[in-house]
Amino acid sequence: MTVHLVGAGPGDVELLTLKAARLLAAADAVVVDRLVGPEILDLISPGAERYDVGKTPGRPGPTQGQINDLIVALGQRLDTVVRLKGGDPYIFGRGIEEADACRAAAIDVEVVPGITSAIAGPAAAGISVTERHVSSGCCIVTAHQDPKSDTTNWQALADSGLTVVVLMGARRAVSIAATLMAAGRPAATPSAVITNAARDGETVWAGRLDQLGVEPVASPSILVIGPVAARAVATGEFDPTVLDGLRDRHLASQ
Ligand SMILES: C[S@@+](CC[C@H](N)C(=O)[O-])C[C@H]1O[C@@H](n2cnc3c(N)ncnc32)[C@H](O)[C@@H]1O
Repeated sequence: MTVHLVGAGPGDVELLTLKAARLLAAADAVVVDRLVGPEILDLISPGAERYDVGKTPGRPGPTQGQINDLIVALGQRLDTVVRLKGGDPYIFGRGIEEADACRAAAIDVEVVPGITSAIAGPAAAGISVTERHVSSGCCIVTAHQDPKSDTTNWQALADSGLTVVVLMGARRAVSIAATLMAAGRPAATPSAVITNAARDGETVWAGRLDQLGVEPVASPSILVIGPVAARAVATGEFDPTVLDGLRDRHLASQ
């Protein structure tokens, strides 16, 4: 009769916590997100009920209300329910809404933090999101906030000088770069994109803010904007000089 909200980390099974692995092996039911890797799913007890509630961008999936109802129903019926979420359950994971739904139904909740992609992704590219004498802090923001409740003050973010880490920004990289430059961040600000961090197919793009997103950004990706991103080690054959003039044309076509 406990629902465990468990962070699965960014993808690499070795970045899972010991507690998460123990709970997966003991679970009566596991409710799984899209960004959880196959090696982690292999740790689930063979006898456990398994529910895939992954939301794929642009495709219909279960609503958050339906996911909440499922978790509550499982929590009322079974002893050990694991709600397994990518990264950390409380970083853009809607974990708090699921915890609220369980508590409202008098079901015990335990939160098991995971390593968030917002920190592990940059680290995989050689970036420390805070760095003494370079950046005294970082802001983790979503590019996918409901426009009706968007609380992000991009001007304040640009003025702060802090490292900006953007999740769910693959399709909005160009407009985020434009917004930050309009707010005063220099066009030459070091920037990086880490795609599939700590999982198969990991790639790193490194360049300037005015080049960010000109090459299509695949999902899932993390955008890092700020001087700390100068340490990013790009992978692949990217040649920034091919972008001369492309960005303006790309923006004009939007
Ligand atoms: C709904 S948010 C969930 C974030 C998650 N709770 C965390 O702490 O990492 C999903 C977004 O996280 C980022 N993300 C998660 N895992 C990632 C990975 N392995 N590589 C790159 N980006 C990732 C992407 O920006 C993706 O669109």
